[in-house]
Amino acid sequence: MHLAPEACKAIKARGQRLSVLTAYDYPTARLIDESEVDWILVGDSLGMVILGMPDTTSVTMEHMLHHVEAVTRGAHRCPIIADLPAGSCATPKLAKQNAQRLIQAGAHAVKLEGGAEVAPHVSEIRAAGINVLGHIGMLPQRVREEGGYRVKGRTADDSARLLNDAERLTAAGISAVVLELVTAETSASITRSTPVPTIGIGSGSECDGQVLVFHDLVGALPWFRPRFVQPEADVATLIRKALNAFHQRTVRRDSEQT
Ligand code: KIV
Repeated sequence: MHLAPEACKAIKARGQRLSVLTAYDYPTARLIDESEVDWILVGDSLGMVILGMPDTTSVTMEHMLHHVEAVTRGAHRCPIIADLPAGSCATPKLAKQNAQRLIQAGAHAVKLEGGAEVAPHVSEIRAAGINVLGHIGMLPQRVREEGGYRVKGRTADDSARLLNDAERLTAAGISAVVLELVTAETSASITRSTPVPTIGIGSGSECDGQVLVFHDLVGALPWFRPRFVQPEADVATLIRKALNAFHQRTVRRDSEQT
């Protein structure tokens, strides 16, 4: 199984780098599946990207299940990772039950945010035979407590805390760990010290892989672009041109299909 801890450790041991993109719907999942991208993440970023919420804190299990099912219909090659949303992991037992629901909906692994404090949750999910990814550094589900999207690992203490988080989560059985907005130096030392792949977002180039929000990569969300994103396309401009071309064609009555 691609996302089992031993398989992921082997990927890292042979120096293979991993590309990961989010998908929330059937056509995007199918396009990614037909590309060379390695893994799909049904991120709880869907709250912001798809549902227009201000952050991810109000995303529910029902939202996640709905989108995991759609992605599952479009992806047959790529393993699918699904986020456990805010409030879904209040206890290790609840984390396991919600992980089981995401797997039943078609995900191959789940991801949960948090450091050493969620190691018991990871162990419980692993005991049910489910593959788990960790997510440390900036934790979007805690953005309100933290007062914004701030870079982590800047001080020696914070860097040591993140290294400890990665170690505890690895011991609990994670297959890989997302590092979000972690300084390049701290990311590099976590990457050196951890046997499982590190997947960075806004965390420098030394991670074992990179994850991006699909809409950021293709320029489909033009109203806000995180500083670390280098878009590969400008889909919003193409869509706007197509919309206005359709409107103009319509008002000129030259779009008859008959
Ligand atoms: O929800 C998401 O898209 C994520 C990525 C930012 C890693 O967790």
